[in-house]
Amino acid sequence: MARSIPVTLFVVIAALLLGCSEADSRATSADQAKEPGRWYTSTQVSTGETVFQSHCAVCHGDKAQGLAADWRQKLDDGSFPPPPLNGKAHAWHHPLSLLIQVINQGGIPLGGKMPAFAEVLTEDEKLSAIAYFQNFWDDEIYGSWQQMGGAN
Ligand code: HEC
Repeated sequence: MARSIPVTLFVVIAALLLGCSEADSRATSADQAKEPGRWYTSTQVSTGETVFQSHCAVCHGDKAQGLAADWRQKLDDGSFPPPPLNGKAHAWHHPLSLLIQVINQGGIPLGGKMPAFAEVLTEDEKLSAIAYFQNFWDDEIYGSWQQMGGAN
């Protein structure tokens, strides 16, 4: 009896792992439809909306529109207000890898105020948050972003 437990456990774990990967591949193939011309899916945009509302909107606005009257105007402490991420400021200058880096490290190491999210959000959540705010970009801004490195 005692010897059969590890075997049983092994079978159960193997079944769980198999079950999970099957479920994952089903989920991705069902949701694979990319937004036209974009790197992300509509699922990422809707996941991203939830992430954005709970972690980013307080500073960047619920539609990533920014909350400061002028995001280019330094605050009294010398830092900048949170910029809009909806394509009106300059987030489109940064390729995906750099956007992820900003989200991971925040701005505090550079004298800014944005907190680091490296340990707060999963990679999926970070990418989804980006998909959410990029979905406000028109095709022209998105095209310029692609010229600056885009989804690299
Ligand atoms: C406490 C306020 C605050 C929160 C919360 C916050 N940010 Fe920021 N964010 C800033 C500020 C301020 C800057 C400008 C750099 C700095 O001062 O740190 C910035 C800059 C950025 C930039 C760079 C934009 C550019 O034009 O270069 C990105 C991208 C960004 N934030 C995304 C996010 C995302 C995504 C979240 C949520 C996961 C988030 N931020 C949460 C305050 C915040």
